[in-house]
Amino acid sequence: MQERYEHFIGGAFVPPRAGRYLETRNPATGKRLAEIARGDEADVDAAVQAAASALPGWRDRRPIERGRVLLEVARRLRERQQEIAGLEVLEAGKPAWQAPFEVEIAAQYFELYGGLVNALGGETIDLGPGYHSYTRREPFGVVGVILPWNAPINQAARAAAPALAAGNVVVAKPSEFTSASLLEVASMAVECGLPAGALNVVTGTGPEAGAALVAHGGVRKVAFTGSLRAGREIAHLAADRILPVTLELGGKSPNLVFADADLEHAVPGSLRAFVTNAGQVCSAGTRLLLERGIHDCFVTALAEAMKGVRPGQMIGPMTTEAQYRKVQEYYAIAKAEGATTVAGGGLPDDPALAGGWFVLPTIYTGVRNDMRIAREEIFGPVVSVMPFADEDEAVRTANDSPYGLAAGIWTRDLARAHRVAARLEAGQVYVNEWMAGGVETPFGGYKQSGIGREKGLEALHHYTQLKCVTIRI
Ligand code: NAI
Ligand code: MG
Repeated sequence: MQERYEHFIGGAFVPPRAGRYLETRNPATGKRLAEIARGDEADVDAAVQAAASALPGWRDRRPIERGRVLLEVARRLRERQQEIAGLEVLEAGKPAWQAPFEVEIAAQYFELYGGLVNALGGETIDLGPGYHSYTRREPFGVVGVILPWNAPINQAARAAAPALAAGNVVVAKPSEFTSASLLEVASMAVECGLPAGALNVVTGTGPEAGAALVAHGGVRKVAFTGSLRAGREIAHLAADRILPVTLELGGKSPNLVFADADLEHAVPGSLRAFVTNAGQVCSAGTRLLLERGIHDCFVTALAEAMKGVRPGQMIGPMTTEAQYRKVQEYYAIAKAEGATTVAGGGLPDDPALAGGWFVLPTIYTGVRNDMRIAREEIFGPVVSVMPFADEDEAVRTANDSPYGLAAGIWTRDLARAHRVAARLEAGQVYVNEWMAGGVETPFGGYKQSGIGREKGLEALHHYTQLKCVTIRI
C-alpha cells in the first residue's frame, strides 16, 4: 500500500487540482491506512476531457483488437492477483482467503468481454427491394462509472470491461473507502495496450466527485452501484440531462426453503447466502423463508453451522465505520421490534479484533415481513427468518418487498422450482445454490433494486445505443 494515491487521468497519476486529500482506514484495525486524492469538478472535467480525446482511437479500432487488449488485462490481473488482493485486504477488510477470488472474477469479466467484442453485430431489416435498412450498436462515448466499497475491483471490472469492449471510454469514481485496487488496475491496463485516457479514475466523495461526474455534459451514460439513496440522487441528476443510467441498488432478497429440499445442502447454502463478505453483498439472501414443518430443525441446524463463521477468519469486518454503526442500529431495531435472537445480535468479544469494525453473524426468528428488519437492507451478516404454510404464501411474502434483486428456491421438485421461479419478482433466481451463475449470467434488479443489467451479453447492450440506417436504393 502506498502512503498517498493520486487520480489516474490520461494515462498518468495526477494530483488533485485543489490539493485536497481524504484519509482511508483499515477496517480490521480502525487505523489510518493512506491518503487518496479528494477530487472535485475540475478533476472530473480533466478526466472527461482525457477520455473524450481517447475516444476516437479506441472506438474506431477493429473490435477484435480491442478484445485482445482486454484479454491481456485479464492475463495481467491473474499474474498480479496476490498483490491486488492484498490491497483489498487492507482497504476493504476482505479476509485473505477471499480477496484473490475477487481479483479472479475481475479477470473473468475482462476475459468474457474480450471474447464478446464481435457479438455486437446489428441486423438487417427487410423493407422490400427499394431499400436497405440495418442497425448498428454504437458506443455512447464517455461512460461514468460510480462504484461502492463491498467488491471494489470485481464491480469496477463488471462495468469497465463491457463498456470498453463496446468501444466506450470510461471515467470511474471508486468508493472513497476503497480506491487503491482500481487505481492500480487502471495503470496496469495502459501497460496492457489500453490507450491512455480510455480508463480514468477520479477518487473522492460522492457529493463532490460523484455528483460532478453525473452532471458533466461530456458524460453520455452513467452506471452506478450502491445505495438506494445515492441511486435516487443520481437518477434525479440524470433526469435533468436525460442521461441513460444503469442502477444496481441492492436488495432484501428472499430465500425460500421447501420441506422437500435437500437440507444437507440447503443449510450451508442458506448460511453462505447471508454471511458471504460479512453480508456486504447486494444480492445477499437476507430473508429466509422456511416451510413451517422444517422451520425449527432448520433454524437449529443453521445456528449450529454458523458457529464455524468466525469474524476475523471466515468473515472480515464491516468495510466502513458507518456500516459498522448501521448494523448495530439494526441489532437495536430488531430488539425493539420484538424479534427473537437465535445467535449473534452484537459485537464479538475476541480481544484480537479490538479496534476493527467486526460484528457477529446473526439469526432472528419471529420476524414479520412488515418489520424494518425484513424490509430494509442491513448490509451485514444478518438474516430474518419467517415461516410459510404453502407455495402461495411463500411467493406472496417473497414478493412483498420494495426490492427485487435476487431470490432463492430450495426444492427437489423440478416443477415447483420452475413454477415458483416464474412467479418471483427478482432479476435473478437461484435454485438449489445461492449465487449460482457467473460473469456470464445477466444481473440486475426488479422494482427498487435498479434499472438495467450488468454481466453477460446483456450488459454489452446496455453500454451501446442502437442506430438504424435506412437507404433508398
Ligand atoms: P453509497 O451509495 O453512498 O456509495 C456508493 C458510491 O456512490 C460511492 O462511490 C459514493 O461516493 C457514491 N455516491 C454517494 N452519493 C452520491 C451522489 N449523490 N452522487 C454521486 N455519487 C454518489 O453507499 P454507502 O453510503 O457507502 O453505503 C450505504 C448503504 O448502501 C449500505 O449500507 C448498503 O445498504 C448499500 N450499498 C449497496 C451496495 C450494492 O452493491 N448495491 C454497495 C454498497 C452499499
Ligand atoms: Mg453514502
